[in-house]
Formats: sequence, C-alpha cells, structure tokens
Amino acid sequence: MKILVFDDAPAVGLRLGSYLADIVAARAELVLGLPTGRTPLPLYAALRQITTTRGLSWAGVRTFNLDEFVGVAPDAPGSYRAYMQRELFGPVGIPADHVGFLDGTAADLDAECRRYEAAIAAAGGMDVLVLGIGTNGHIGFNEPAPALHARTHRAALQAATRASNAGQFGGDVTCVPAEALSMGMATILEAKEILLMATGAGKAPVVRQLRDGGITTALPASFLQLHGNVSLWLDAAAADV
Ligand code: F6R
Repeated sequence: MKILVFDDAPAVGLRLGSYLADIVAARAELVLGLPTGRTPLPLYAALRQITTTRGLSWAGVRTFNLDEFVGVAPDAPGSYRAYMQRELFGPVGIPADHVGFLDGTAADLDAECRRYEAAIAAAGGMDVLVLGIGTNGHIGFNEPAPALHARTHRAALQAATRASNAGQFGGDVTCVPAEALSMGMATILEAKEILLMATGAGKAPVVRQLRDGGITTALPASFLQLHGNVSLWLDAAAADV
C-alpha cells in the first residue's frame, strides 16, 4: 500500500482533488466510485473549485456511490444521494443518467442490490474508487463481523456508525436508519485503483491497524492489503506522525 501524508484535512482534499481532476481530464471515459461522510467534504470542495478554475468537463464520467440508507428516499435531505447532489454532482454538472446509486426505498431490496452489481458490471467496473474508513475499520458499510459479504447487500449498521452519521439527520441518532445498502468486499476489491482517505486523530488507531496488522474480518479495511493498487491519503493526525 502506498501511503501519502499531508499536513491537514484540507491539504488531503486539495491533493487528492488535483490527482482525480487530472484523471478526469485525461480519460474520455471514467467510472468513478465515491464515498460520502465527513472525510470527503474537502475533496468535493476541491473538485468544485478545480472544475471552475480549470473548466474541467465531467461529461465522460459515470459514478457509483458505495452506499445508501434503507428507507430514505433519494430526494430526502438525509440521503447520501442528496449529499452527493449538493457536494459534487450538481456543482460540477454530472447528469442524473451518469449517476449510479442504490435506492434504499426500492420495493425489493435484494433485487435492488443485484441491479446495482449488474449496473457496475455493465459500465465495465470501477476504474477508480475513493473510500473513507470507519473508526471500527468498516469500508462502505461492510462492518466488522465473523464473515463479510462479497457483493452489494443489506447491512445492519453498528451503534458507532449510526452515531457518526447523526449529523445527516439533525444530530438525532435515533433518526439514523438501522440499515443501509452497501457495495460488498468483492465489489470494492474489483475496482482497478483504490484511494482511501483518512483524516483526524480519531482515525489514527484504525490506520495503524490497517498498516501494520494482518487481514481479518474484524477489520474489513484490512482486505485492501490483497489489492495491488491501493493508496492511503492521510493527514498528519491520522498518520500519527
Ligand atoms: C460512506 C462510507 C463510510 C464512510 C466512513 C467514514 O459512504 O462508505 O464507510 O467512509 O463511515 O465516515 P466519515 O468520513 O464521516 O468519518
């Protein structure tokens, strides 16, 4: 795993934003996997800024987000779809028909997961996937457990994960859904390049485990060690340097 360390979270956002913008500019077609959460906010801010200053075109980009809450409609303010529209898709001009997203209100959630896998495959797989990481080592909503899911699935969220998502729901943890739909571990590991972001001292212990520990389902992110093209984009606090 390649490890890149920058001064602070805005610097991580800027450098990763610049790296991704170069890829968007260079490739006629690009399939991009994306995360939500607090960590990528500086990245999306940087991409908005670079898009304006460079006049970057996103016309050839198709996106797939990692996850969505069960029971939250795509246009509801707490949805990850609404977050992405606000932070990236709207400002940089990615049209709805280039956006792949799980629908947590689908009538048949298992069929929705299968539809998503098929859509990613039909797009030719993800060229580049950006990830965050939970303090418990989850990626997407693949939570630590005795066994992990290979494919897009319905996931029960752990208490800490619900608490860290309360901000999306007016700060009220009881409003955070108990379940989400999430890409599975194989879905993630099939991306050609993976860029994992972690910022802040709260992520330092899990980053240390990811860097130095063995592969275990107790730390789903540890499976990234099996992938040949992963880089960690850290600030000094998360890298503990
Ligand atoms: C969100 C996602 C999650 C987050 C993780 C970290 O789409 O896939 O795995 O990346 O929960 O969240 P933050 O960045 O809020 O600490």
